[in-house]
Amino acid sequence: MRLRDKVCLITGAGSGIGQSTAALFAAEGAAVIVNDLDDGKGQDTVSRIEAAGGTALYIRADVTRPDEVSAMTERALARFGRIDALFNNAGISGVGMLHEVEPDAWDRIMSINIKGVYLPSKYIVPHMMERRQGTIINMSSCVAEIGLARRASYAATKGAVLALTKSMQVDYAPYGIRVNALLPGTILTPFVETYLRNSYDDPEAGLESIKKRQLSEELGRPEDVAKAALFLASDESKFMMGSPLYIDGGAVFGKNA
Ligand SMILES: NC(=O)c1ccc[n+]([C@@H]2O[C@H](COP(=O)([O-])OP(=O)(O)OC[C@H]3O[C@@H](n4cnc5c(N)ncnc54)[C@H](O)[C@@H]3O)[C@@H](O)[C@H]2O)c1
Repeated sequence: MRLRDKVCLITGAGSGIGQSTAALFAAEGAAVIVNDLDDGKGQDTVSRIEAAGGTALYIRADVTRPDEVSAMTERALARFGRIDALFNNAGISGVGMLHEVEPDAWDRIMSINIKGVYLPSKYIVPHMMERRQGTIINMSSCVAEIGLARRASYAATKGAVLALTKSMQVDYAPYGIRVNALLPGTILTPFVETYLRNSYDDPEAGLESIKKRQLSEELGRPEDVAKAALFLASDESKFMMGSPLYIDGGAVFGKNA
């Protein structure tokens, strides 16, 4: 029970890494606020947690909408009284060289992947400041550290999230708040399955080329990232501040070092 009595809010928790993390946090004793845009997926995460004996509440909110994020924060606080950990996980992928990215697609990915970290933090941090404690986990990616072909817009968002994490940490350290970033490599989730379909004529060949970027022979699993998030959410990581945590099968420091 590494998160006993903690209240954790996870954005984009209806699928993939967010869903796996919500289940793990609940199994470790946390009450989990499951945020997503997709009611079916969000409710599915809550049902899984409740079936396993855990506590969870689904709150629909688009992380790019101030009104919805503010209302989500108030609802979560009304129900649980506080938020100990915020995992800014929601995000979308973007494929293409810079000149191939249409302005609308550029704006959309910037909005979900960066504003979607800014807004939940903006509304939840003041409550953490008041209590002089809290931990925030921002979802970056190892693309923030290495150049990957045809990922321009996505890489720009994840680099921004890493820079934002360091700045937030400096500002909020005096209030007892820790802010760290997760940098996963390729993790087999619906997000990557969509990417494979959109980017390769033969998704199997795409999978093989992704494996060549890393040292591990396996792709990452959502549970691998969930375990890293658990460490950052728990007091076990109390000396980690403003840090990137890599879960990438050796993609950054192995193949490209
Ligand atoms: N899968 C990977 O290989 C990988 C690698 C590095 C980083 N990441 C990052 O991890 C995060 C989760 O990725 P995943 O692979 O689990 O994706 P996923 O597509 O399986 O899940 C993302 C969830 O976010 C939700 N979402 C999307 N837009 C939203 C919005 N505006 N408001 C609220 N919820 C929204 C979706 O409905 C979905 O349930 C993303 O930020 C992604 O960039 C993923």
